[in-house]
Amino acid sequence: MADLDGNQENKQFYTDIPQTTGAFHIKGSNSLDWGMKNRLARIFNPDSGKTVMLAFDHGYFQGPTTGLERVDITILPLIPYADTLMLTRGILRSVIPPSSTQSIVLRASGGPSILKELSNEDIAVDIEDSVRLNASAMAVQVFIGGDYEQQSVINMTQLVDMGTRYGIPTLAVTAVGKDMVRDAKYFRLATRMCAELGAHYIKTYYVEDGFDTVTSCCPVPIVIAGGKKRPEPEALQMAYNAIQQGAAGVDMGRNIFQAESPTAMIQAVRAVVHANETPDKAFDLYTTLINQTA
Ligand code: 5RP
Repeated sequence: MADLDGNQENKQFYTDIPQTTGAFHIKGSNSLDWGMKNRLARIFNPDSGKTVMLAFDHGYFQGPTTGLERVDITILPLIPYADTLMLTRGILRSVIPPSSTQSIVLRASGGPSILKELSNEDIAVDIEDSVRLNASAMAVQVFIGGDYEQQSVINMTQLVDMGTRYGIPTLAVTAVGKDMVRDAKYFRLATRMCAELGAHYIKTYYVEDGFDTVTSCCPVPIVIAGGKKRPEPEALQMAYNAIQQGAAGVDMGRNIFQAESPTAMIQAVRAVVHANETPDKAFDLYTTLINQTA
């Protein structure tokens, strides 16, 4: 029989070497199942423990946002520099090449437009479709203190339950209403609630005072949204401060795709997130990259 031919008798059992059981590199995730961990490891780089997520899901409630009018023209060139793409299934299927190897975080909640009460969301993606699209996580908006607070929290817990059946993590996005105070006390409440109720990681906003207290009392990783467009040095400074104060990465949209040079900006953000580069050095990189292409 062919499979017995040439069998070697000198098997090695390495009885003197215990099998290593390494700790998983993502905060609070050690007890998750293999599929969950593997998907999270596609988001959070195992070497740096951090992630640069490129967020361009804004159209799900505000239509063709500035910089996203033609995702095929403005976003595709940025994909090689992102660890993860955060987007809707509509843009994923219509524009993103299936040959892309970046992990996908799928926008999984929606409903109201900017013309209505934004907190009145529902779950907007079937778990089967998330599996079909090979999503590494599903993102859901949570409006703590908003008009539909409870409904949005239940959206999140339902996604956590559905995702757990299939090994797909849930990203809770803490959304802040126009009239709500954005301070560390609020974000400690919002992020901790999401983590306690099962979110695997959380997206929130950076605050100048006490951001380290937000990250320290949240038992799972926190990534920051970029928020409205700022001058590039300020955006790099914000990303740097967040990383130094315990953030596990960024989920940045407008401050990248609305930058003067989005391709240079995402590389500068990467330097801050993955290489702990200072904001000044990252901005030098930004200008150098722009000059190289001029
Ligand atoms: C929409 C989102 C966006 O993905 C998020 O706001 C990130 O984009 P930006 O950096 O432009 O704020 O979650 O609610």
